[in-house]
Parts: sequence; structure tokens; C-alpha cells
Amino acid sequence: MLTGGPAQPAGVPFPPDVAVVGAGPVGLAIAWRCAARGLRVVVHDPAPGSGAAHVAAGMLAPVAEAYFGEHELTGLLTASAARWPAFAAELADVSGADLGYRADGTLMVGLTADDLAEARRLWAYQQGLGLPVAVLRPSELRDREPALAPRVRGGALAATDHQVDPRRLVPALRTAAERAGATLVAGAVRRLSDVAAGVTVVAAGCGAAALTGLPVRPVKGQVLRLRAPGGVAPGFRHVIRGYADGEHVYLVPRAGGEVVVGATVEERTDTTVSAGAVLRLLRAAVDLVPELAEYDLVETLAGLRPGTPDNAPILGPLTGRPDVLAATGHHRHGIVLTPVTADLISDLILTGEPDPLLAPFTPDRFGLVTPDEPGVAGARASGGATMKEERWN
Ligand code: GLY
Repeated sequence: MLTGGPAQPAGVPFPPDVAVVGAGPVGLAIAWRCAARGLRVVVHDPAPGSGAAHVAAGMLAPVAEAYFGEHELTGLLTASAARWPAFAAELADVSGADLGYRADGTLMVGLTADDLAEARRLWAYQQGLGLPVAVLRPSELRDREPALAPRVRGGALAATDHQVDPRRLVPALRTAAERAGATLVAGAVRRLSDVAAGVTVVAAGCGAAALTGLPVRPVKGQVLRLRAPGGVAPGFRHVIRGYADGEHVYLVPRAGGEVVVGATVEERTDTTVSAGAVLRLLRAAVDLVPELAEYDLVETLAGLRPGTPDNAPILGPLTGRPDVLAATGHHRHGIVLTPVTADLISDLILTGEPDPLLAPFTPDRFGLVTPDEPGVAGARASGGATMKEERWN
């Protein structure tokens, strides 16, 4: 057990069974699951919900985001996506919130012949994994989504890739966690010894690096939000992910008229929005769905994904610190991985038995030794983020 923490604010159980550092979706869902099972839980965050989830589009896309060489990650994404319908229903019930959960499926499209060739290589890989990718005839594609530009050469349907609105999800999780008895403390944790608890869960996104020495680095993503004039629903209902003249863009329509357009993937640590990124995102978006040129541009934003060397999350006890569990490094998959992360980490805390699903994602896979005093580990935090390349998601 950790000791020596500061005096707890009034109303905070002392010492809690579980301290969660980070009130993003992952931290809040772990807090909810633990509190609902009778543990005393405190969540620490100076600004709950203000991290990557505030920027995220909310795609639940284990199929469309199954990439070459990432089959273990794909397995975890698939397991989590399968939990999403029940998780969303339970959360909506407990919190009383509408999460904006939609099961309309995802269309993956290619604009030019070269784009389509690249897309087909990925679809073949995904189908080879047994994932449900249905290649569509051009007429089927148009029937499904008439808003697509006539120039779009071809597409495929990932019917099981759904979406949720992260800006609805985070407050709902907070309500659920608090109703289950968890306490939120608005304050930053700079060192693990700042908190006292039986178990500390580090769900601090990019902040996990400085706390633990784990190789989590910021990966910048720039995102736009458009709105259909008059607040009517967008003229398309699927999530659309496309290659457009070599650039990759996704378009996520919401019932209230919003369309999220994303995203850059940049090895950068700033959160400025660049004119070039906005230009390229908009060009790619309008190339695929021309009506978007008539929409209002209501928000431009950049966030920092918590990236890891193998693009997969880090889940489980730190080497030599069984009382400190990592639940971080979710990179581009924080929203879809929320249910499985919460279940696996809360089960581990309750039972002491790691689920086999955790095995590929443990902190010790990087061969790092946890420093004696976590919290002063910044020197090992970068994870090799030296490039200033910008590429497209
Ligand atoms: N998963 C989408 C993104 O990271 O941009």
C-alpha cells in the first residue's frame, strides 16, 4: 500500500481502496466499475474530461482500424467493441444520459483508382483476419450513401463499426461513477506518492509518462467540427472513412447536424491548429462528400493522443509495483477500448487474477524497470518521439 499522501479533502474516504489518476473515459469507467462493486474510489484530475476525449470523434471501429501487424491490438479492439452495446445501454440507464450511440455502420471508400487500390489491400487484410468487411458494387455504395461524390471509385461496408459522442460519454461516466459512490478530486497528481490508496490506477493519458516512466508520448491530432446549415441532420448517416488523393480522412455525422472531420497524426507536442491541416482535411472531406462545402465550420481543435511504441495500450501492474496499475497508452482507440479496459482493470483489482486478454499489453513488454520513485521519470518518457513528420490518419 502507498503511504504518505497529503491530507484528503473533506468527504474523501481515507484511505480509499482505489485511487484513479485521470478522469477521462478510461479512468472514469474504471472508477464506475470499481465503485459499483463496493470499493472506495477517489478520482484525481484537475480538469475532468478535458483531454483527448474532448477532441475525439468517437468512432468504435475495430474493423476499419485493423492495420497490418497489429493483430493483437485488433483482438482487443474487437473484444471491446462487442461490449459497447451493453455498456452504452447500462451507462445510459444509470446516468440518464443520451450518449449519441449510433449503429449505422462505417463506409470505407477510395476516391481515385490509386486510393481504391490502397483501400483494397487493407480490406483484403481485414477480411483475412475474419473481420466483417463487405466490398460493395458502385451502385450499392451510392444506394447506401447518395451524398458521396460521383468521383468516389469504390467502397466497402464495416457494418459493425459504430460511433458514440465522447462529449456526451464523459459526463455520463462521471455521473455513473459518482452515483456508484466514487469521489472526484479536482487536483493534479504530480508524483504517485501524492496519493494514498490500496491500489493506484494511472489513467492519465500522456501524463502517465512523467508519473511512471512508461513510454507514452503525445501524438497530435487536428480535428474540425462542421454543422449542417439550420441544424438539420447531415445528409449522410454512416461514418465515412476514405482515402482521397492519398490523404486519409474520416467523417462522423451526428443527429444534431454536427460532422466531425479528422484527423492528422503528427509527432508533435503542441496543440496549435495549422492552416495547412485545415485546408487538407476540408479538401479531402469535400472531395468525398461535396455537400460539406455548404456546412458551417464551427470548431478547429488539436489534441494529444497517448501513443506507445507499438500503438497498443499499456494495461496492468508496473514492474516491481503491484500496487500501481497502468491503464494508459490508448492512442487512437481510447473511446472504443473504454469498456474492456474498465472491465479488465476492475476485475484485476477485485480478484488479483489477470484476464488472459491483458497478456499482450502489460507494462513489462517494453523491458523498462520502474524507477524507485515514480514521478521523476521524465527522462524516459518520450518513447522515441523524435520525428516532426505529419501524416494522415
Ligand atoms: N481514432 C481516430 C483518431 O485517433 O484520429
